[in-house]
Amino acid sequence: MTDLYAVAGNPISHSKSPLIHSAFARQTQQDMLYKAQLMPLDGFALKAGKFFEHGGSGLNVTVPFKEDAYRFADEWTPRARRAQAVNTLKKLENGRILADNTDGVGLVRDLTLNHHLSLTGKRILLLGAGGAVRGVLQPLLEQQPAELVIANRTLSKAQQLALDFADLGVVIGCGFEAVEGAFDLIINGTSASLGGECPPIPASALKADTVTYDMMYGAGRTVFNQWAHEQGVTITLDGLGMLVEQAGEAFYLWRGVRPDTAAVVDTLRRERRV
Ligand code: ATR
Repeated sequence: MTDLYAVAGNPISHSKSPLIHSAFARQTQQDMLYKAQLMPLDGFALKAGKFFEHGGSGLNVTVPFKEDAYRFADEWTPRARRAQAVNTLKKLENGRILADNTDGVGLVRDLTLNHHLSLTGKRILLLGAGGAVRGVLQPLLEQQPAELVIANRTLSKAQQLALDFADLGVVIGCGFEAVEGAFDLIINGTSASLGGECPPIPASALKADTVTYDMMYGAGRTVFNQWAHEQGVTITLDGLGMLVEQAGEAFYLWRGVRPDTAAVVDTLRRERRV
């Protein structure tokens, strides 16, 4: 029987997840169907409940339902508990719903496997302190960077996040203007680019071999990566690889098979969809 999966969000028509998971299913010969599911803004739990009652096997969850999906689940992976927001739900054999957050491991896999960067012992600056950043903190800290600085427009949110994850490594929260010294890696996890803006960090945060990474992606460089490029940064990466890797990790949780994620990143870039 064909197993049914979907990505749930609002809006959802722009989502590349159906394309990505269909490619994974073809590659690994899994008998599954994956569709995009528009959810009502005030009715995630009801609609997700119906999806699973009617035979659905798993859901990916995107903006703005990741916290709703966290509350909807019956069981959580440790990283999902930390993130308090999830992008993957799986119906277990006993009917209970397991929640996972694969965003952080997707980011780390993209950085370390696709781009061959080591994070261990490095100075990392993470911009933003919303759900996207909370979701990636545990997997990033598991790589044991020397120091992870969280800088955010609203200082209190950066400080709170730093406190919440202090047991996992050296984590510091500050405002953009208080960012000091240069970093090996700067990750933009703010939604500033959506409004065409760039988080105002000092240019002194960059050095000759700093790598910048924007969790967002688009046809050209993001506003943040464009700024870094203009300051002389040579490696500016976007979040397409993270998108495909978080999908690969969800696919693995559901099907127990690892898809060839690099091939799908290549196809998406070649087809100039992004
Ligand atoms: P997400 O789920 O994408 O993380 P979020 O939880 O609403 O969304 O968080 C958005 C993040 O982007 C926050 O860190 C926000 O900063 P504040 O905490 O100060 O609101 C940040 N952000 C949004 N627009 C921004 C801008 N124009 N400049 C800088 N930071 C911005």
